[in-house]
Amino acid sequence: MTAANADPFAEFKAAQRELWALFAPVEIFTAAPAARLVRFAGIQSGQRVLDVACGTGVVAVTAARRGARVSGLDLSPALIERARKNAGTAGVEIDFTEGDVEALPYPDASFDVVLSQFGHMFGPRPAVAVQELLRVLKRGCRIAFSTWPPELFVGRNFALIARHMPSPTLPPGVDPPPSPALWGDPNVIRERLGAAVSNVLFERDTMIVPALSPQHFRMANEKVIGPLAKLVALLANDPATLADLRTDYEAMIAEVFEDNAVHQHFLMTRATKI
Ligand SMILES: C[S@@+](CC[C@H](N)C(=O)[O-])C[C@H]1O[C@@H](n2cnc3c(N)ncnc32)[C@H](O)[C@@H]1O
Repeated sequence: MTAANADPFAEFKAAQRELWALFAPVEIFTAAPAARLVRFAGIQSGQRVLDVACGTGVVAVTAARRGARVSGLDLSPALIERARKNAGTAGVEIDFTEGDVEALPYPDASFDVVLSQFGHMFGPRPAVAVQELLRVLKRGCRIAFSTWPPELFVGRNFALIARHMPSPTLPPGVDPPPSPALWGDPNVIRERLGAAVSNVLFERDTMIVPALSPQHFRMANEKVIGPLAKLVALLANDPATLADLRTDYEAMIAEVFEDNAVHQHFLMTRATKI
């Protein structure tokens, strides 16, 4: 990459790569929504499928167990390593690659289905991500993804974290990334996918995370949700702000805490590339 076309988000992505390395233990909770996304996308045996921002490969492995020929890509080498182990354990072959949703290392029209679960939403430039996701998808084929709506629990968590988090360091003149939660707003999704797709369809579902109390859930997430873990570390010398953050977070958790589980509603979207 020359200086002229250098990625202005290179530093931001390097930080993300480190943050998300903590995520592996959460796979036990994202495994069930992965099955929902794979079914919603209508994955069939023999299809060539890409799982973007695959993390530990929960969607990729689910699709491969249905007989699809799957590739998975993620920014985090630690999660890719875990994804390879997961594929081995499940007895499926998947081509996992370290990479960036904004620069997918696949030729045009490589895939019959492109999927992303709570993943592509973290690419800092939605227009670049959309261009890449649709570039590698064949015409007449499906893109499907799960995202967190801004007005619901996880979307509100993003806003809470953003309120306290220092802005990322970016080259002069480069706009900061929009909130990932905008990917959970159907109007924004329609606008971002634009005229390149047809048959846009939405469906809501729920990810259930068992926990003994809101406090237990908060403590567990402080260790495994990268952006939250980073913020807690940054506030180590500011106990008053850290205490406020924890109080606000636990109040939000309490709103969706029922029968010893946190109920996290998400949005699934699918569309056909024209
Ligand atoms: C919330 S996790 C979801 C992981 C997995 N899809 C799942 O459902 O368990 C978000 C993932 O996005 C990945 N990610 C963040 N920014 C990315 C980027 N620019 N390109 C590719 N992956 C990215 C992270 O490394 C992380 O694995």
